[in-house]
Amino acid sequence: MKYLFFILMSLSLVSCSESFEIKNSGIIPEPAEVILLKGSFMFTDNLKYVFPESDSVIRKQLELFLYEINSISGKEFKIKNTGTFSKKIIIRLIEAKTNPEAYTLIITPGKILIEASDHHGIHNALQSLKQLVLLNDREGEIIIPSMEIIDLPRFTYRGMHLDVCRHFMTLAEVKKYIDYLSMYKFNTFHWHLTEDQGWRIEIKKYPKLTEVGAWRKETLVGHGRTRPQVFDGIPYGGFYTQNEVKEIVAYATDRYIEVIPEIELPGHARAAIASYPQLGVTGEDIDVMTYWGISPHIYMPSEETFGFLENVLSEVAELFPSNYIHIGGDEALKTQWENSKEVQDLIKKLNLKDEHELQSWFISRIETFLNKKGKKIIGWDEILEGGLAPNATVMSWRGEEGGIAAAKMGHNVIMTPNEYCYFDHYQADKESEPLAIGGFLPLEKVYNYEPVPGELNEEESKFILGAQANVWTEYIPNFKHVEYMIFPRMLAMSEVDWTAPELKNWGIFSEKVKEHEKILDKMGVNYFNK
Ligand code: ACM
Repeated sequence: MKYLFFILMSLSLVSCSESFEIKNSGIIPEPAEVILLKGSFMFTDNLKYVFPESDSVIRKQLELFLYEINSISGKEFKIKNTGTFSKKIIIRLIEAKTNPEAYTLIITPGKILIEASDHHGIHNALQSLKQLVLLNDREGEIIIPSMEIIDLPRFTYRGMHLDVCRHFMTLAEVKKYIDYLSMYKFNTFHWHLTEDQGWRIEIKKYPKLTEVGAWRKETLVGHGRTRPQVFDGIPYGGFYTQNEVKEIVAYATDRYIEVIPEIELPGHARAAIASYPQLGVTGEDIDVMTYWGISPHIYMPSEETFGFLENVLSEVAELFPSNYIHIGGDEALKTQWENSKEVQDLIKKLNLKDEHELQSWFISRIETFLNKKGKKIIGWDEILEGGLAPNATVMSWRGEEGGIAAAKMGHNVIMTPNEYCYFDHYQADKESEPLAIGGFLPLEKVYNYEPVPGELNEEESKFILGAQANVWTEYIPNFKHVEYMIFPRMLAMSEVDWTAPELKNWGIFSEKVKEHEKILDKMGVNYFNK
């Protein structure tokens, strides 16, 4: 009887898919190739998982896959070793010279087959399958239409950034953020850890960075442009211990996400200078910044500062296995350098033209140090001013011009122009939205972003590694609000980064988003849906 019911269900699904002409798998980001087949696969607790006994990584990946499905759907799926199984899920690594992130996922009534040349590809396949399970979980039954997916990403760098300085996010919240990235096949988490308003990472050699620098005495209320400024009078702060940082890195690594830490220099350094005033130009005692905007406090380009930064970066390099360390470089106001006799003397001594060249010298020196440690640097596009450090990757945020210039010079580029990629901007009419920094970035505008500028020829285009969305948190006081600002815009960004432009389709994407909102509901995500 049960069997008959299943056949009827399968047939109805087939006829459904025929009559409603289901044209897409539902998966976000849209895969490179999807062939919808006849029939369906009933996903139950009675499946045989077939993978090499010796491959403990696949076992761990499968356990995580089932754990995530269970936590979202309330099911209790697990890998069973004994029983009579009617269907199988076969997972295997194959010898092939493919992109390590590529995978094949074939769903037929009797079995699901996953193949990839690397565990990262298997991870991506399991994210697609997880979405299919959750999308097709209806009234207790999970019936996945048969299909064949052959998939690989367009870009090698697919990033999301999070500023935990303006507002602090707990360890559990950062992990949730990583879960979201993983589900939508991002592979990079850019963790913005130091700022004028707070230093958030424990550095053993400099305990004051977190004793002093991680705390501000109060926070501005309302928009930074409002006058008079009003403060809440509530001390605010937080930081991650090195053990917690390791926990995040391990958590991300299990989800095939590389964590790139950002340690800002030479500007956005007020919390560090508040902790160790001798690192500043004026030497005066200052507090951790309590309002938004750019602080004039900048590191003194002294041997003491370089010693400090090298020690900090040595600890950071040990904690993060990533190839890259982001050294900031943005919005460094040069007034204090202009007004300091010592700095002006240094500019003369080094035979530099101006403060921009001094910044370049500063960053190049840091780059040399990090390159020796086997790390490459990324900097915001201001690092082009005064000359680009020899091996730097440029993160183009003030538009695409910096990225275009860098690519033409043969430097790698990550596109994150604020007009398309800043998720702290409004996503609907500002009168109806919670306070944001400004701007207007609706979902469709994110979706239509093309990271490779027309100005670049084929050779130059290869330097565009991918795109990233940034989440600055001046006006995002808690993690629920982070969710509101990233969903569903990060789904659009995932297709910008993953999907070939000719396969992108706004109409289909919009329909898929509606279906994904049902998953987000089950996950308890506070998404924007006006
Ligand atoms: C930036 O938004 N200041 C990189």
